[in-house]
Amino acid sequence: MAGALRGVVAMDGPSGTGKSTVSRKLAAKLGAGYLDTGAMYRMVTLAVLRAGVDPADAPAVLAVAEKAELGIGTSPDETTVTLAGEDVAAEIRGTDVTTAVSPVSAVPAVRELLVARQRDLIAEVLGRVGGIVVEGRDIGTVVAPDAELKVFLTASAEVRAARRSAQDSAAGRQSTVDGAKAAVERRDRLDSTRATSPLRAADDAVEVDTSQLNIDQVIVALAELALHRGLLEDCPAEAAR
Ligand code: DC
Repeated sequence: MAGALRGVVAMDGPSGTGKSTVSRKLAAKLGAGYLDTGAMYRMVTLAVLRAGVDPADAPAVLAVAEKAELGIGTSPDETTVTLAGEDVAAEIRGTDVTTAVSPVSAVPAVRELLVARQRDLIAEVLGRVGGIVVEGRDIGTVVAPDAELKVFLTASAEVRAARRSAQDSAAGRQSTVDGAKAAVERRDRLDSTRATSPLRAADDAVEVDTSQLNIDQVIVALAELALHRGLLEDCPAEAAR
């Protein structure tokens, strides 16, 4: 651990930028909590699919979301994702959920519900641990607009597709780079053009292009940013590296 993070690091950006791995490892390195808000939208989507509800039927989607018993861990070392107590960590990454998550996450009332839940979780972790890394699409713009550090990760569509495809293959899911590129671009388009909280960098976010960087290089760059913002308690400069 390099030091104890004080405050919120908001990590936004499209999929395939390394956001999840970077956020989790950065939180572990800085002795902070970690919240994966995408997992929450995915859990609601899984509940919607299991209920046999059309993801485009907003009122029905909201009804499912209101009843869904979402369990999400905030430790970077042990990420737990449960729906009514059942471990759904693998299932929420499957193709069915990935395809249906954009319309579900575009429903304004679903977002309101989850944003309130996310703010509660962040407040709880800040009180208990002191710092948290929160990843998503609207963290710096909506969920935590006062975050001490806002990061917007980007990478070229080609690089993101290759990463997503490698991840899918490693998890035993059928995948090609072309297919992954089409899926990544489709989801970017839907996430960036929706009316409520579209994916965009906050005006005061630091944009980091990860196309040419590996995970460790990104983490070092972000830990230094946190250090220079004065967010690492009792941490000499070299410890952030
Ligand atoms: O980060 P991810 O791929 O697990 O996110 C899944 C989907 O959830 C993504 O297509 C957009 C949506 N999402 C969102 O709208 N707002 C967030 N804060 C996080 C994710």
